[in-house]
Amino acid sequence: MKDAYGREINYLRLSITDLCNLRCRYCMPEEGIPKRAHRDILTLEEIDEIVSAYVKLGINKVRITGGEPLARKGIVSLIEKISRHSEIKDFALTTNGTYLKTMAKDLRAAGLHRVNISIDTLDEKKYAAMTRGGKLKDVLLGIEKAKEAGLGPIKLNAVLIGGFNDDEIEKFVSLTEQEPIDVRFIELMPIGEVANWSLKNFLPNEYVLEKVPSLRKLKNADPSSPATLYQLPRAKGKIGLISPISCKFCSACNRVRITSEGKLKHCLHSNEEFDLKKVLREGGDLTEFLKYVILKKPQQHQIEAGDFIARNMVQVGG
Ligand code: 5AD
Ligand code: SF4
Repeated sequence: MKDAYGREINYLRLSITDLCNLRCRYCMPEEGIPKRAHRDILTLEEIDEIVSAYVKLGINKVRITGGEPLARKGIVSLIEKISRHSEIKDFALTTNGTYLKTMAKDLRAAGLHRVNISIDTLDEKKYAAMTRGGKLKDVLLGIEKAKEAGLGPIKLNAVLIGGFNDDEIEKFVSLTEQEPIDVRFIELMPIGEVANWSLKNFLPNEYVLEKVPSLRKLKNADPSSPATLYQLPRAKGKIGLISPISCKFCSACNRVRITSEGKLKHCLHSNEEFDLKKVLREGGDLTEFLKYVILKKPQQHQIEAGDFIARNMVQVGG
């Protein structure tokens, strides 16, 4: 499927819940976000209908996000449904990792290919403070179980926060030395919970390169990936630097996103949404609808245009 600017759209990101078992300070208010009524959320069957329609149109890469997707009831059966589409060549899930210790095996058996795990610190106390009560041990065990289950290549995502984890950059980077694990640093975005945070919390990704000058830049194999890749000499894994705001990958953007309420968003940084739940529940032709609206995917993101009202990340699925 091509959009109006000739970009080949082959990547679907599905947020299946806004809810999470953690309360990361940069992501969620302490009390969490209000639970939506059941009928406002796509059913697992509806999610699979959307996947089917997109697969017909050429989507071959799917990522499940949230909130915390493993907190949604029925996630394993959803993975089973989605993995039946043999056209999907890359089937991944982004998780905080806390449930992987019990679920990794089942997820792999259900047909999931790989996981990205969010982990912003390697210090137990700091982890509990940032997530408001999360246990780092759960995540570390989850990473082990994901490896054992064959959910690789595993990528770890760390949001870089000045005064919080900037002293752990070397430690994160060294995780890539002995094992084929990728670590990606994501710049903190001043949206939602973070809107009023102090400037000192915001670090440009180049800070990672200052801290670890031995990192060598690699040629990016995938031009549509927002990560610029680096590697330590002789390391097994790679380092990715992701700048969500200054990201200039719009011209290679290959993705569409669906929220848990069934809103299609063509760009993370755009307010335009299309109500797929309505199309489904009113018996419309979803495939035709998707084919038509893809032509409205914006050419570039509109952060600088100043007309973008930020939702919390959990509501758009990272
Ligand atoms: N800035 C950057 N990344 C964020 N995430 C959530 N909020 C922010 C933010 N303000 C990302 C993190 C997290 C995922 C669920 O969403 O990567 O792991
Ligand atoms: Fe949950 Fe991820 Fe948000 Fe933390 S950042 S509260 S783990 S969704």
